[in-house]
Parts: sequence; C-alpha cells; structure tokens
Amino acid sequence: MQRGAHIIDGKAVAARLRIKIAEKVQALPYRPGLTVVLVGEDPASTVYVRNKERAAHEVGFESNTIRLPVDTSQSALHACITQLNEDPGVDGILVQLPLPSHIDAGLIVRAIDPLKDVDGFHPENVAALALGMPRLVPCTPRGILLLLREAEVPLRGARAIVLGRSNIVGRPVASLLLAADATVTIAHSRTRDIASECRRCDILIAAIGRAEFVRGDWIAPGATVIDVGINRGTHGGLVGDVAFGEAVSVAGVITPVPGGVGPMTIACLLENTLIAAAARRG
Ligand code: GUN
Repeated sequence: MQRGAHIIDGKAVAARLRIKIAEKVQALPYRPGLTVVLVGEDPASTVYVRNKERAAHEVGFESNTIRLPVDTSQSALHACITQLNEDPGVDGILVQLPLPSHIDAGLIVRAIDPLKDVDGFHPENVAALALGMPRLVPCTPRGILLLLREAEVPLRGARAIVLGRSNIVGRPVASLLLAADATVTIAHSRTRDIASECRRCDILIAAIGRAEFVRGDWIAPGATVIDVGINRGTHGGLVGDVAFGEAVSVAGVITPVPGGVGPMTIACLLENTLIAAAARRG
C-alpha cells in the first residue's frame, strides 16, 4: 500500500551545497566575482536579484548588481555587457530576464562571453549541452538533477517526462536527463492526452507555469515528481504546477513548493560562478 511520498527538502540540500561552495571559496587565492544586471524594476525580478546578490556575498564572492533604468537602450546595455566581458574581476555575468520589450534579449545573451555565462543561456553553452558535452549548464535544470541524485532516484533507463519546452528549464533538463540515460519525453501545450503520457513515466518534471495543472491521477504510483512551478494559488499563496495534496499520496518522491526546486537555482548559480572562475583563472 502507498504510504505517502518522500518529500525532498530542497532548502536543506541547497544550504549544504552553499556551505560546500563557501568552503571552496575560502581555499582560493582570489574571490570569484558575480555581476547581476537588472534592467527596470519588475517586482519579482527585483526580489530574485536581491536574493542572488545576498547569496553570492554570503559564500564570499565579490558580488555586484548593476541596476539600469527601464528605458535603457539596446546599445547601452550591450556596452555594459562588453565592459563586464573585459573586466578581469568578473567571472560570472547574469542578465536578469525578462528584459523590457524594446530590448532584444537574444542579442544581449549572445553578447555575454560564453565563459562568463553563468546562466548557461549563450548558444555556445546550449549547443555544448545538446551535444552531450555540458559546460556551463542552466541553473534550475542543474538543481533538478542534483535533487534527483540526492534522493537516489535511478535515472538510467527510467521513463522521464518533462512538461514544458522553455529554453530556461524544459529543453535543458530534458538534455540532462538524456545524458543520464533516461528515456525522455518532452510534452507541451500541443501534446495529445498529456495525462496518459505522464501516467507511463517514472519521473515527472513539471515546468509549465500553470497552477496545480498536474493532478494526482496523472501520476504513476511510486513515481518521482519534481515541481518547478511557482504560481499564485486561488487563495493567494504560492502553489506549484502540481496539485501537491493529491500527488503526495500517489508519488514515491516529490518536491514541495516552496522549498523544493527554488532554493537549488541560486545554489547552482553560485556553483556555476565557481566553475567559471576556476576555468578562467586556472
Ligand atoms: N528569470 C527567471 N529565471 C531566470 C534565470 O534563471 N536566469 C535569468 N537570467 N533570469 C531569469
């Protein structure tokens, strides 16, 4: 009989990873530098950026945030990136997304030195991951793989389904699961009978941004459920893409929202910065 899922404590896993990073930084002859660029004052982005800055500072990085007005031009933002590319004290550059609509985000991402691209969004890093030779890997997908490893979820030969095909989560996490020898399905808004696709799978990664979209009866008994969603629920609180109350009694392993995948994203950003610093400085 199913007795309720093991709930992965992402906050605790992320805290341990941050301590490990801080210890490594202590042993370095330099301070890794992370610069975050925020254009405008989007409230959610402002909170995310503040959290990134604080976390970077806490592990001993040289941490800076460049805050630019919402009407910053494409060329001014490009010039700012060029300056950061050339700054030897900057190991990691992160441009917070979304950018204002008058800016071409693709061009800005391509302007970042791929060796400093701690988001893993530059086409060179995207290609390296797609070719099975990962370099700097997007933070949330990397965090998801670490949580799966932490919970000792077998990946080789497992049937995994990724709901969502975004460049930030869906596509890169599918590549990482494939690299770990899982059999991967990517489902999206045009997928037919998504519930039965999910029911066939051992691992379900929900990254679609729709509150409680995945119901309990979509989940195979004992399956692993990773919920990447952060949505406002009908009662104002944060809810994931999975109906947690239903899923927790069916799944074998599950991540909560909040306190699951979320904390791993920043921890992996710190890890990427450490990797970028080591690669650049030797
Ligand atoms: N906005 C939401 N998630 C992310 C992320 O992982 N990186 C950046 N740069 N912006 C984001």
